[in-house]
Amino acid sequence: MSVPVITIDGPSASGKGTVAAIVAQRLGFHYLDSGSLYRLLALHARRQGVAWHDEPALAELAGSLPAAFVQGAVLLDGNDVSMEIRAEEIGIGASKVAALPAVRAALLQRQRAFGVAPGLVTDGRDMGSVVFPQAAVKIFLTASADERASRRYKQLIGKGESANLPQIKQDIIDRDSRDAARAVAPLRQEPDAFLLDTTELTIDQAVDTVLRRFGQYQASGI
Ligand code: CDP
Ligand code: CDP
Repeated sequence: MSVPVITIDGPSASGKGTVAAIVAQRLGFHYLDSGSLYRLLALHARRQGVAWHDEPALAELAGSLPAAFVQGAVLLDGNDVSMEIRAEEIGIGASKVAALPAVRAALLQRQRAFGVAPGLVTDGRDMGSVVFPQAAVKIFLTASADERASRRYKQLIGKGESANLPQIKQDIIDRDSRDAARAVAPLRQEPDAFLLDTTELTIDQAVDTVLRRFGQYQASGI
């Protein structure tokens, strides 16, 4: 029997990571933040002096990315880079390397390897469309650009970092356009994904909606 997978795709700062991690915890499932792999690659490339557009060199780095996920921390070469990969600049680099087909192909099996018992909750851009097309439940999580910018702003201020709201909104819009416009695995709602607009929802309400849909899937006995 295949392992149940819940995919949560959507634009930046829509709450994917927060909602996916809580759903995984409630169900006792594994959790994969697929964006962290693209962020790790962008950081690794920078440290190795590889440009974010050098497709063959990036694909090679991606194939042997020295990354590990240990108790919620993201490691590169054995060092905790959880904070470093969250920098907006690394997010921009991630969306540049993620547009290259050879890079995506090199990371595919690594992502699928997370789909083991008792189940997986994963978030990203193409988890329901490309990486786990047979997923039990597919969610397209979104919120208005203003709401997403405001969430990212509060997140940064909460961490004691300086933040500029109009700049954050512009960065989010630019990154979403690049993710939606690319030829390979573009950001978009798949026909079989459930649209969950969280502009007016709390995190708990979004989590409950995902859990309810998973409950419906289980009750259907598929
Ligand atoms: O993973 P993604 O970039 O989609 O977003 P996130 O990092 O999970 O969420 C961005 C911020 O929005 C976090 O600080 C969440 O706590 C917050 N959030 C919220 O305020 N209301 C929601 N309904 C969902 C997330
Ligand atoms: O947290 P946020 O939504 O801002 O970004 P992320 O999920 O960490 O992803 C960073 C970048 O990686 C995105 O802008 C995408 O370009 C890319 N990405 C992707 O192409 N496919 C995925 N499954 C996940 C992320």
